[in-house]
Amino acid sequence: MSDKQRIARTFAAAASDYDAHAVVQRHAAQQLALRAQTQWPQLPAAARMLEIGCGTGNLSTLLLQTYPHAELLATDLAPTMVEACRQRLGADAPQVTEALQPFPPLQPMQATPPTPRVRFAVADGEHIDAHAADLVASSLVFQWFADPAAALRRLALQTPRLAVATLLDGTFAEWRAAHTAAGVDDGVRSFMTEETLRALCAQLGASVVVETVHEYHPDVLQFVRALKAIGAGTARPGHRPAPLQRVLRAFPHGIAVSYRVAYVLAENTSLLGRLRLLDMRG
Ligand SMILES: C[S@@+](CC[C@H](N)C(=O)[O-])C[C@H]1O[C@@H](n2cnc3c(N)ncnc32)[C@H](O)[C@@H]1O
Repeated sequence: MSDKQRIARTFAAAASDYDAHAVVQRHAAQQLALRAQTQWPQLPAAARMLEIGCGTGNLSTLLLQTYPHAELLATDLAPTMVEACRQRLGADAPQVTEALQPFPPLQPMQATPPTPRVRFAVADGEHIDAHAADLVASSLVFQWFADPAAALRRLALQTPRLAVATLLDGTFAEWRAAHTAAGVDDGVRSFMTEETLRALCAQLGASVVVETVHEYHPDVLQFVRALKAIGAGTARPGHRPAPLQRVLRAFPHGIAVSYRVAYVLAENTSLLGRLRLLDMRG
């Protein structure tokens, strides 16, 4: 089974428990939506938004509230996540389109918001074609990509507006340090470093803000269960599970675990200019 298949399967199994545990995920989605709104208070009439890795719809809901005249194509690698998002956003939304690849053709631009404004597709966001989108948004998904930097670079060329929140190196630092001290492999996937991301964003002319969010779990086992519940328990490929007892003993009073969250906003000015020209020509 490929790494992508393992990720999809683990997230698919987590769809029903996800919302009860996704505290940091909700926070990141709110921050990302706020930052997008500040940078782009409005989108062009009947704009098309593409969301990569919608999960159960934390960011999708905010995107629809922030841009009430835009339509949204919500996508995810895991079919049950897409279905959970569809149910959350409204039972009258259209059924999930199975394994839509590449990006499906969108309707021609309309002056009034189409009804319904949301469509759904199962798709691998790492390779999706985003040329048709006026805004691409994604919260806490890129860290699951085989090559997040390449995906950022490609999407920044394809779309006029790109808003991404992703996890950086330093995430789960306390958990990882306890594994190192106990002499066992933590299995945590590798995250992009802040330096790499900042260098990439400088090349792209994108802005990046990094924050550290701490999440306290009074019982360390609760943290392990929460990771599983949100589907984030997929280990690095090749990882062999090790006995956890010595690691767990390092947290007699629970664990305050760190998440290093980066918010990237990229504006492709040549694409923005081209779209304005098209608007003026009617
Ligand atoms: C931590 S959840 C975030 C979900 C949602 N964006 C939120 O803020 O709550 C990560 C999501 O990314 C999805 N995912 C992982 N790899 C993906 C990929 N290559 N393409 C699309 N979605 C992916 C998972 O299925 C999962 O729903």
